[in-house]
Amino acid sequence: MKRVLAEGYELDDDPDRIDIDAVHAYISGESYWGQGRPRAVVERAVRKSARVVGLYKDDAQVGFSRAVTDEGANVSYLADVYVLAEHRGHGLGLELVREMVDNGPLAGNTWLLHTRDMHELYAKLGFGPPGERLMERPS
Ligand SMILES: CC(C)(COP(=O)(O)OP(=O)(O)OC[C@H]1O[C@@H](n2cnc3c(N)ncnc32)[C@H](O)[C@@H]1OP(=O)(O)O)[C@@H](O)C(=O)NCCC(=O)NCCS
Repeated sequence: MKRVLAEGYELDDDPDRIDIDAVHAYISGESYWGQGRPRAVVERAVRKSARVVGLYKDDAQVGFSRAVTDEGANVSYLADVYVLAEHRGHGLGLELVREMVDNGPLAGNTWLLHTRDMHELYAKLGFGPPGERLMERPS
């Protein structure tokens, strides 16, 4: 499903529209979490995710997010969220994440994510610190 935003921006959850080369370039070259990730791994993650939401400006891929779930039953994990640097600061990241967590088939799920410094953004969409029931085994 597509959602048109202002100034030529658009959100779209069509997995076939994702520009794998663009997503790979950002994640492997610029992100703080996926440096050096091989293109084949990025492509597999895109293809196997339960939902992807791309952000486009005049049809070019300028942002991305994906969700991993238990077939959408209960829990979704939000991953690989980015907006290219030259498009940041205009509310696009918030809309990208909102589209993923508040609209579409996974909207009612419990959502989990990791973030280094974007707690404020996610707090606007209902994310908070983990409760005492949540545990993690890091890789
Ligand atoms: C995170 C990211 C997607 C946000 O995209 P964006 O389009 O700039 O975000 P928005 O303009 O929608 O900002 C929404 C809110 O996020 C928070 N935020 C945005 N940039 C921030 C920054 N540099 N530092 C701290 N908080 C920030 C603010 O709360 C902001 O709300 P405000 O404008 O009322 O202050 C983008 O900065 C990015 O790609 N960063 C690098 C990759 C990354 O960190 N991804 C997230 C991994 S969990």
